Amino acid sequence: MLRVGVMVSGGGTNLQAILDAIDNGTVTNVQIAVVISNNPGAYALERARNHGIPAVCISPKEYGSREDFNKALLAGVDSYGLDLIVLAGFLVKIPEEMTRRYERRIINIHPSLIPSFCGVGYYGLKVHEAALERGVKVTGATVHYVDSGMDTGPIILQKAVEVLDGDTPEVLQRRVMEQAEWVILPKAIDMIANMALSDGC
Ligand code: GRF
Repeated sequence: MLRVGVMVSGGGTNLQAILDAIDNGTVTNVQIAVVISNNPGAYALERARNHGIPAVCISPKEYGSREDFNKALLAGVDSYGLDLIVLAGFLVKIPEEMTRRYERRIINIHPSLIPSFCGVGYYGLKVHEAALERGVKVTGATVHYVDSGMDTGPIILQKAVEVLDGDTPEVLQRRVMEQAEWVILPKAIDMIANMALSDGC
């Protein structure tokens, strides 16, 4: 069983897609050990609790400095003995010490086809606004390993989604989630869990 921690900041629809995929057997050999949010009001925490999964908040507001927050975040993550950390809409930059310690053990979902519309400043609706402004006809989502850069780690899975005439950022965001994010994030976790097993881990 791969022990997975999911890190969230908001609504948690990607978390829900993972939980549903575990429940319906699409994702196997995975146990969600904890859900960690930086935001106490994140509905994702509620989704975790409803599923009987430990849900914890580690908020930067509770610490005097970014350094202290980073230490607390790393200590919190370490205490769960995780094999894989999944960033599912986690809006905080991962501390470098954490990317080093968990090299190839942190993955992220990004709502575009990397290397388009990614990096600093491209998060949430901004990604879809930029795609519409540029007039691309195809966008999508990417699951990638997290390294010390922003959306720069090795790509694991991508899925394309059509942009349609009249799309607003909100409409496009929803289509990218439904057709791509909720599909490839659980799929990547399943691939890693079952690859790890076949490696004898
Ligand atoms: C998703 O679009 C994800 O790609 C982005 O943040 C959003 C999170 O949505 N990084 P949710 O919290 O999973 O509903």
